[in-house]
Amino acid sequence: MQKIVMVCLGNICRSPVAEGILRHKANQHGLKITIDSAGTSSNHEGENPDRRSQANAKKNGVDISTLVSRPFTIKDFDAFDKIYVMDASNYRDVKALARNANDIAKVEMILNLVYPGSNKAVPDPYFGGEEGFQQVFELLDTACDRIVEQLSTKY
Ligand code: 4NP
Repeated sequence: MQKIVMVCLGNICRSPVAEGILRHKANQHGLKITIDSAGTSSNHEGENPDRRSQANAKKNGVDISTLVSRPFTIKDFDAFDKIYVMDASNYRDVKALARNANDIAKVEMILNLVYPGSNKAVPDPYFGGEEGFQQVFELLDTACDRIVEQLSTKY
């Protein structure tokens, strides 16, 4: 079974939305995958997703209200097959914990699924308005469609 972890900075805005969307789509397609999310910082450890992320996801039909922030750790390289990060600083922070080339090979900027090789970021919506949360949802929704397509043809 494929195991995927979504990673952002705080694990309260972007990566919980990615986790929720992918779980929703996997359920819809009857795909059995393990999905989790984590933050490169532990500043929000133990917190539920940001209220604005929860509300926006709910508006789009995805419930992330029960998710809880946790920090990314080295053990995650063993526990997961694929580590999708939201931006270049997440990529640097995760890569800094990698022990070998196998660990590094698991890490990918999530929007490279949609725009291959472009290293585009899922913009951090934390300091912005509601439109930023909707933009994040739409970008991640498209990226998660690619993941489901990939896994559907593989298994
Ligand atoms: P996230 O967003 O990385 O998408 O969860 C952020 C959450 C918190 C902060 C920044 C970004 N912060 O500065 O506290």
